[in-house]
Amino acid sequence: MSTPYIDKEVNGEKSSDVVWHQAAVSHQDRVKLNGHKAAVLWFTGLSGSGKSTVANAVDVMLYQHGVKTYLLDGDNVRHGLNGDLGFSDQARVENIRRIGEVAKLFVDAGLLVSSAFISPFNVDRKMVRDLLKEGEFIEVFIDTPLEICEKRDPKGLYQKARAGEIKNFTGIDSAYEAPINPEIHLQTDGKSAQQCALEVLNYLKLHEYL
Ligand code: ADX
Repeated sequence: MSTPYIDKEVNGEKSSDVVWHQAAVSHQDRVKLNGHKAAVLWFTGLSGSGKSTVANAVDVMLYQHGVKTYLLDGDNVRHGLNGDLGFSDQARVENIRRIGEVAKLFVDAGLLVSSAFISPFNVDRKMVRDLLKEGEFIEVFIDTPLEICEKRDPKGLYQKARAGEIKNFTGIDSAYEAPINPEIHLQTDGKSAQQCALEVLNYLKLHEYL
């Protein structure tokens, strides 16, 4: 796979002498110790749809159940690891690729990871799904209509996008491709974050992740 942001000046030529090292403590050992399955809850949806809010509510509930979790959030990750990336289609692909690799490491560590990124393109979400094993990728579509997201506009970004002050804004002048067959489809209109989070928890119990 091509990695458009790898700069040969910084990284040098990719070495073919790097060998995967098998850790002494296996994934199975970690899962056994934790007492629950490891997976990624991949929240996807428009900006302002409630991804982070619902993912946080799920994270709190899981924590209260004694589940080992971690939450990866778009706005936060873009301050650090992905601080060099913008919002062109190519940059978004790289954003999701890196998050996918990080999420995979957390799953290997035995955690139930929640990730909250717009991740607007089907092909990129599929790429992350393919990085993981069967059952380890749980796509959660936070389905909030654009009109509602725009009305909420918690960061004032839709207003700026409409005014042409932000380019490539998802839902305005950049596409959002809704998931075709997500494991969990949350129609959030009229529901609280707690209700949405409970639906996710029920899925995890029903499918014996917990
Ligand atoms: S993604 O498309 O690459 O998955 P990500 O979830 O990391 O996006 O970041 C989205 C957040 O960045 C939004 O919630 C919003 O706060 C901010 N943002 C800034 N510019 C844009 C833009 N052009 N399109 C979408 N979100 C943007």
